[in-house]
This record gives sequence, structure tokens and C-alpha cells, in this order.
Amino acid sequence: MTRKLCYQLYLSWENDSSIYMDMSLFSKYQYDENAVNQYFDSKQNSSRILFAILKGEKPIGELQLKEINMTSKECTLSIHLQNDTVKDKGYGTRAEQLAIQYAFDVLGMVAVNADTIIKNTRSQHVLEKVGFQFIRQENGFKYYRYER
Ligand SMILES: CC(C)(COP(=O)(O)OP(=O)(O)OC[C@H]1O[C@@H](n2cnc3c(N)ncnc32)[C@H](O)[C@@H]1OP(=O)(O)O)[C@@H](O)C(=O)NCCC(=O)NCCS
Repeated sequence: MTRKLCYQLYLSWENDSSIYMDMSLFSKYQYDENAVNQYFDSKQNSSRILFAILKGEKPIGELQLKEINMTSKECTLSIHLQNDTVKDKGYGTRAEQLAIQYAFDVLGMVAVNADTIIKNTRSQHVLEKVGFQFIRQENGFKYYRYER
């Protein structure tokens, strides 16, 4: 992800209710360039890689490998597509497959973790489809893990 791609991504961003356990926190997304700059800057550190998901040259989502631990060789995957127009078209599945491959082949990870809130059945379905194993359910979350 570059700063410019991040601006483009968030210009057409919509928040998705499926990631909110507490719906009182859900609101319509409003673009704010300063907030996007702060967001982008906050993701630049050695334990995280922020990827843009591109359709052609256009960003349609973001995927993070975060909590990268080079000692235990584990990290955590998170993903969010831009808005409903690009969901349910296979892009999330493909992005997760590529990110897992990157985590194992480039970063040398031995496991990738992921979690979703219980109501987010689409995300759970995609995680399982690409090969994550369900590990446990705790405090409103379902935890998944992919081991090579
Ligand atoms: C979750 C997300 C990354 C999935 O990416 P996507 O491109 O929309 O998903 P895909 O098109 O690759 O695959 C969707 C699959 O889920 C299925 N699906 C759709 N809605 C579903 C639902 N409500 N419950 C279960 N499965 C569902 C589709 O049938 C499809 O399965 P199939 O390929 O076996 O037919 C994307 O929808 C997204 O960004 N959602 C909002 C943010 C989010 O939930 N992020 C994850 C946080 S943990």
C-alpha cells in the first residue's frame, strides 16, 4: 500500500456492519484526508505489512499481515474490501490465498492466525475455504489458524 493508494481506497470506502459487535459504534464512513494520513502512518512498523488489494490499478481493499513475530514465526491476517460493489466476487478469497503464500514463502512464517466476530459468517466461510482451521470461540470471537 502506498499513501496515494490509501487515499484512493478510502475515497470510496463504506464501513461494513459485519465487523461491528457493538452496532452503536457503526456509522457511515466520511472521508477525511488527515484521518487517512494518520491511519496510513500508524500502520508503518516492522510488525505489520499493509497491502492494497488491486483490481487493475484501482485499490478495492486492504489486507494486513500484522503481529508479525519473527521469533515464533506467526502473524495475523486481517482484510477489508472497499464497499459492497466489490464484495462476493472472489477478490477476498484470492487476496487471502496470496497473502498466506507471502507469509509462508517470503516472510518465513509457520502459522497465520485470524479472527472474526461470531456474526461475520461470510468472513468465516472465506477463511475456511482458503484453508484456515477453526480453533475456538471466545468472548464473541471465532479464532482461526493456518499452519503450513
Ligand atoms: C470478508 C471479505 C474479505 C470476503 O471477501 P469477498 O471478496 O467478499 O468474498 P468472496 O467473494 O471471495 O467469497 C465469498 C464467499 O462467502 C459466501 N458468502 C457470502 N455471504 C455469506 C454469508 N452471509 N455467510 C456465509 N457465507 C457467505 C459466498 O457465497 C462465497 O462463497 P463461495 O465462494 O463458496 O460461493 C469481504 O466480504 C469484506 O471485506 N467484508 C467486510 C469486512 C470483513 O468482514 N472483513 C473480515 C473481518 S474478520
